This record gives sequence, structure tokens and C-alpha cells, in this order.
Amino acid sequence: MHRILAALLLLLAPQLAADEVRIEKLLSEMTLQEKLGQLTMYAPDQPELKDALAKGLVGSVLNTAHVRQANELQSAQLAGSKHRIPILFAYDVLHGYRTIFPIPLAVASSFDPEAAETVGAVSAREAREDAIRWTFAPMVDIARDARWGRMAEGSGEDPYLAGRMAAAYVRGFQSNGLLACAKHFVAYGAAEGGRDYGHAEVTEATLRNVYLPPFRAAVDAGVGSLMSAFNTVGDVPATANRKLLQDVLRSEWGFQGLVVSDWAAVSELVQHGIAATPAEAARKAFDAGVDIDMWDGAFMTLPASARIDEAVRRVLRAKFAAGLFEEPLVREPVVVSTSYRDARHVARRSIVLLKNDGGLLPLSKSRKIALAGPLAESSRDMLGPWHAKGSRATSVRDGLHLAGVETVRPIDADVIVAVFGETHEQSGEAASRTSLALPPDQQRQLESLVELGKPVVLIVMSGRPLAISWAAEHVPSIVQAWFLGSEGGNAIADVLFGDVNPSGKLPVSVPRTAAQAPVYYAHFPTGRPAGHRFTNRYQDIPVGPLYPFGHGLSYTTFEYSDLRVEGDVVSATIRNSGTRAGDEIVQFYVRDVVASVSRPVKELKGFQRVSLRPDQSVRVEFPLTRRELEFWTNGAWVVEPGEFQVWIAPSSEGGLTTKVYR
Ligand code: BGC
Repeated sequence: MHRILAALLLLLAPQLAADEVRIEKLLSEMTLQEKLGQLTMYAPDQPELKDALAKGLVGSVLNTAHVRQANELQSAQLAGSKHRIPILFAYDVLHGYRTIFPIPLAVASSFDPEAAETVGAVSAREAREDAIRWTFAPMVDIARDARWGRMAEGSGEDPYLAGRMAAAYVRGFQSNGLLACAKHFVAYGAAEGGRDYGHAEVTEATLRNVYLPPFRAAVDAGVGSLMSAFNTVGDVPATANRKLLQDVLRSEWGFQGLVVSDWAAVSELVQHGIAATPAEAARKAFDAGVDIDMWDGAFMTLPASARIDEAVRRVLRAKFAAGLFEEPLVREPVVVSTSYRDARHVARRSIVLLKNDGGLLPLSKSRKIALAGPLAESSRDMLGPWHAKGSRATSVRDGLHLAGVETVRPIDADVIVAVFGETHEQSGEAASRTSLALPPDQQRQLESLVELGKPVVLIVMSGRPLAISWAAEHVPSIVQAWFLGSEGGNAIADVLFGDVNPSGKLPVSVPRTAAQAPVYYAHFPTGRPAGHRFTNRYQDIPVGPLYPFGHGLSYTTFEYSDLRVEGDVVSATIRNSGTRAGDEIVQFYVRDVVASVSRPVKELKGFQRVSLRPDQSVRVEFPLTRRELEFWTNGAWVVEPGEFQVWIAPSSEGGLTTKVYR
């Protein structure tokens, strides 16, 4: 049987077959130490690295600074390795490498998988010039608690949207030869209280229906690797979770790629209290299914086993597929690549117009415009919490200036553009926070600007939704700009002056206060929906989010009409009922009204971006098939016949709805 398969492989994919032969030969010749070296990832500043290079024991290295440094390390490894096995270089290429795109949460606001694919493809091209062949991205963790700072790195609260974006990033990265890594497997975003690295208490149904689907989407898109998470899932740390890493990932999903631990997560199993020593931790993580140990060197203590060959085989396959055996060194480019046009395009699509009373926006350039707020001049913050090798970004001030607008002081002005929010250190990893409000000094400054009695446009820069309840009441126009990357200031100016009609929609619900977290639209029903006193609500704030998931305005208006269900298709007419051309992101939601278990009050099952001229209309169709109706319960994916409710809507609130029987 094996021989027939090998012959078939030789016929269909001769290169692949030849690689397999070389891999088996290497495995038969390598010592245990050499094999364990392949399963160990180093950082350039680790003292152990020098000795490991001299012995040719370095499998992979993360966070090199430059192609020259990578080439130096590579040459040392090749000289030390009897088998000349090259190093695989890895880096967190999250939303750009030199050209920095909007943070992933912002890209998710575009509801545009093609935008994510562009981010991946451009980042891959740039990173490869620095010898990087593996990125620790996309982060596909569902995040429903804005206190968790890493919400910035993912695609928000919804598994369907996050899955579409995950697949697109994977395609983008890998189409240009950068191995992608879906992280952090799994439920990292469910950390209790939004405290980073904390425990995740999730039922199996919630894992299957909410946290696992974006990983599944990445696997189906052919992602080459996955990273195990820091947190515990129930009472088992994710990095030693055989059920998830073996039973679900390998057996059920058929995943063939690499599993890498997060940074030091293997030896941290000691702190988790499931191993007495790093060596015992290494055995537990490895037996559970982790192939590569990031940074802590614990895998160098593993005893010989058949599973070691299996893991090394995967590492060598990735190196052969990357062409590293043939070309281990990378020629330093004369001119490095950048792609600012793409960055501006994606940034424009990532901006969400939350509020625009009286059509204050867009602004005419002939008005006297004041620019205020602590973030107005900041280009470093525009790059977001993690900016790889990106060094330049346009600030909002730069954007206005490049658009030919010189600003005046607030006291002379017709209109004030105020830029408030978070600095780059306030979101991202290890940036959990108990307050989502503007800091007190910013709040005071905003209030005094509003007191001047002139119209204020608030631009919110942040890596998470901020609880801006006061502004929502007192400021006429609010633009959620997130951290938009290298071209942020230009993209904001494009929207402020109407050169671009905003089209982004929120990939997360905006809370009224941090105390309301977690707040997300696809929540479970309750026997006491919010209403009178003894119902599911807080006494001291209105019910629901400040702005719902999927919300986002345009400079034009769209009318939804004529919802129809015909066979397996739900459709509606969308008409541009305003005076400007614009894009609308039409959303499709489903609820299983009566099932054997409670199901969320609604779930996103489709979306489409349509571009319409004034008065133009289009019929938008969504399939209603098994995929849209199924859910996981009691060990299986099921569709339970009966009553369903469907919506075609401009956000997770409102829209057209009807009942359907299936
Ligand atoms: C993060 C990962 C990241 C790794 C390497 C860890 O602290 O959790 O997301 O890929 O560091 O930089």
C-alpha cells in the first residue's frame, strides 16, 4: 500500500516525493539531539543560541532584526550542522512588516476579506526580504470582552466574520511564501475578566460553536501552522491539551501542519501546576501534540520516541516547501519593498463612522478647522501596539496638511476635529484594563472643547472599543479610526473631506462602560429579556451596547426592502436613497427559534459589500442551507427542523426579518 502511494506521489508530484525521500534519509541519520534541535525555537539574544549554532542544533529563530543578522545565524547553523539543515526564521508579522496596515480589528471593520488578503500578501513579500519565512499570524481569537487588550490583534467578537478574515489572511500570507500560523489555540480571548493569560471557562458547546470555528476556517484554507495558547481551557492548559491538539485538530480536522507553543508556554506548565519540572512539562506538552517549543529550550530534554520523528518530519517538510535547503541565504535587497497605496486603501475601508448628526461630515476644506487632542500629532500611536519594522506613519495632522488644509486655533475655528483615545501601549498583549473610558484628562479636554459651542468631530484612536457614552450624547460626529497604520492620517483626511465615503462596520459591540463587559450581540436568550424591574438588565445604564456589532454609517443612506425567501435563498433589495455614491455592508443573520438547546438570539451567517450610486438598487442574496442552520450539540453538528428567523440588515440591530420553517 505504502509503495503504491509513493509511486502515485512520484507521478503526481515528483518534487514532493523527492523531498519525502530526503526527509526519511535525514531522519535515519540524525541523532536525538539533532532532532530535538529541530523542535526548538530560539530568540537571537538567548545566551544558549551560540552553543546550539556551533552544534547545528537550531531549528528555528524568532525576531531577527535584519536580513544580515539572519544570514549570519544561518551561515553559523549550516557550518555547525552535519546535515546542513537550515534555520526557519519566524516573526510576528501581524498587519504589515515595513508597510503597516490597520490593526486586525480595524481590518475586520472593512468586512472585506480581500483587504485582509492584501495585508497578508504585501506583508509576506516584505518580510521575505528580511529572510522571514514564518509569521505568527493571523490571530483568530474571538474577543468579547474589551478589557482584554489583545482584542486589537484579532477580528472581533464574531466567529463567522473572524473565520472569513482568518481564511483570507492565510491565503494572503501563504500566496507569497510566508507560512501562516493561526493563534492562539484556543479560547485565549475568553480569559476571565479580560485578564491576559487568564483561565478560560468555556463549555464544549461554546468552544465548538464560537471559539473553534475561526481555527477550522484557517485549517480549511490550508494554514501551515497553529500556536497553542497560554491559558487553561477548563482545567487543562491549552499547551498540554491532548483532546484539543490531537483529537480535534489532528484526528477530526486532519491538520497536517506544525503546532508551535506560545513563548515559554511549555515550561509555564510548571506554574500551571501540572508538571513539577520543565522536563516533565516538555513531555506533557509534546505528548499532547505541540511540535515546537518556543524559546524555553525544554524540548531539548525529551526522551526518544516515535512521535519525535513525526514532529521533525513536519518541520523538515516546512523547510523543504520553503525552498530553504536550496537557498538558505537571502540576498539583501537594494531597495526594500513598500506598498503605501495598498495601506491607504485598506485604511480607508477600516474607518467606521459611528455618528454624524446633521450631516456635519464631510467637511468642506474651506472651513476654518481646528485640530485638538493628545493624539492629533502622533504617528507612533497610529502604528498600533505592534508595528514590526514599520517606522513611518502619517498622523492626523500630517493627513490634514497633505490634503492642503492648514488648521487654526479652536477659539477661531468653525469646526473642531478632536483626536482622543488610547496610546499604542494601552492595547495589545499584557494591556488588560478595567476602564474603557477616555482617561480623565482627555475627558476634561473634550468637554471644554464642546463647551466652546462649535461643532466637534471626535476621532477615536484605539485598539478596542472605548466606552464613550458622554461623547455619544454630546458630540455630533464620531469616527472610530482604530490604529490605521502607515497611511492612517491620509485615510482619515480622505474620510473627513469626503474624498472617501466611509463604509466600515463594527466587528465588536461598543460597551457603555467596562462594567458591562462582556457585551456581544450573539448572546443567549434569557427567560427575562430586558424590560421591567425583574429582568436581565443593569439598574444604572440603558440596555444593550452603546453601538451594536455591525453598525456603521455612510455619507449616503441605504434603504432595505422586499425581503423574500425562495427555496434556499433569502434576498432583499438595497437602494442608495441618498445623494452620494457609497458602499454598504449588507448583513445576514439567523436564529434557531426553537431547538433542543438554547441558541443565541441571532448569529451572523453572511455579509456582502455592495457599491451603489445614488438611486441605484441591487438585489442581495444569501444562501440558507445546512451551513447557515447547523450548530454543535452533544457531540455532533446538527440541523434541527422547525422555526427559524432570518434578517437582512444594516447592523445586528434592526433590518428586515421574517420567519422560515425548515
Ligand atoms: C505572544 C504570541 C507571539 C509570541 C512571539 C507571545 O508573547 O502571545 O502571540 O507570537 O509572543 O512574539
